[in-house]
Amino acid sequence: MLLIERWPGLGTIPRVPLVDTPTPVTHLEGVSARAGTAVYAKRDDATAERYGGNKVRKLEWLLGDAREKGARSIVTVGGYGSHHCLATAIYGAQEGFEVHAVLFPQPSSPHVSEVKRAMIAAGAKVTTVRTAAAVPFAIAKKVARLKIGGASPYLIGPGGSTPIGTLGYVAAGVELARQIDEGEIPEPAAIFLAAGSGGTASGLAIGLAAAGLVTPIVAVRVTGPLAINGPTLSRLVQNTVSLIRFHDGRFPIVANEAVRAIVIDGRHRGPAYGASTGAGEHATSLAGGDDLRLDPTYTAKAFAALLDAARDQTYDGPLLFVSTLSSAPFGPLLTNALG
Ligand SMILES: Cc1ncc(COP(=O)(O)O)c(C=O)c1O
Repeated sequence: MLLIERWPGLGTIPRVPLVDTPTPVTHLEGVSARAGTAVYAKRDDATAERYGGNKVRKLEWLLGDAREKGARSIVTVGGYGSHHCLATAIYGAQEGFEVHAVLFPQPSSPHVSEVKRAMIAAGAKVTTVRTAAAVPFAIAKKVARLKIGGASPYLIGPGGSTPIGTLGYVAAGVELARQIDEGEIPEPAAIFLAAGSGGTASGLAIGLAAAGLVTPIVAVRVTGPLAINGPTLSRLVQNTVSLIRFHDGRFPIVANEAVRAIVIDGRHRGPAYGASTGAGEHATSLAGGDDLRLDPTYTAKAFAALLDAARDQTYDGPLLFVSTLSSAPFGPLLTNALG
């Protein structure tokens, strides 16, 4: 891993290798022609063959930490259609953990029910609650039961955006900077990605800043303003840089640059978390022409924001989209349940 080659002290942090790196960067020809601006994608939909997307990068470090702490089970949380819970169910089971997911409601769609079914197919023990407010109690109850049963639970909060999980996107930022440096794609004028719990945006900003790139990162917020805001992202960035520098003091002090690079855009969320929007549906059909699959909750909204910026010429130069939704086929993930 490039991050560890450059800062070897980080090699002492436990990690379970899951990601096929580097993920490709591609030019979206059809979208560029329609948008009148060069648009590229960082294909993190292809982080792993079995199930890709952004969560796999975080899980490399989270599962490593869980193993190091002697945990035998994992408790995590998300919406009914949480990609984070699905990725944790798949890779947690693969690495020998019993995975428990506490799920709260979100607007239903075929994609949401497919994700939930795949979670169960992967062997996750699912508890559903009726409101998001009931989540803390359900988690506390689950953790207490597992402790009594001796299963040493490891708790992963929503989206896996702890400093440990965020390391996955610091690595992605360093990887992307190398691809730009080697001329695989031009330096983007701005980077667009979907932001739910903020670890993807924060980690990427740190990794790029450490590699000397100060590109604006538009974090298209799909959750409420309490989940992600200036102070929460700033805290996550500061804590992640502190964690890194604890392990390798030669890592540059880039927290302020990274925080400044992140632009939070809450205009595309729509009426609620998980609700689809007209602009998102338009973005989905346009991206489909370049074989880029989007989901209504996250990536469609981020891509819609990118298209708006292209139309309004907000940035002077090429735009880069971080494709964070897994593009692995769902069929095999669902058949596990039947087999
Ligand atoms: C497809 C997809 N994109 C983006 C995100 C947002 O990532 P983060 O929680 O790191 O902000 C998520 C989170 O669940 C996701 O599932």
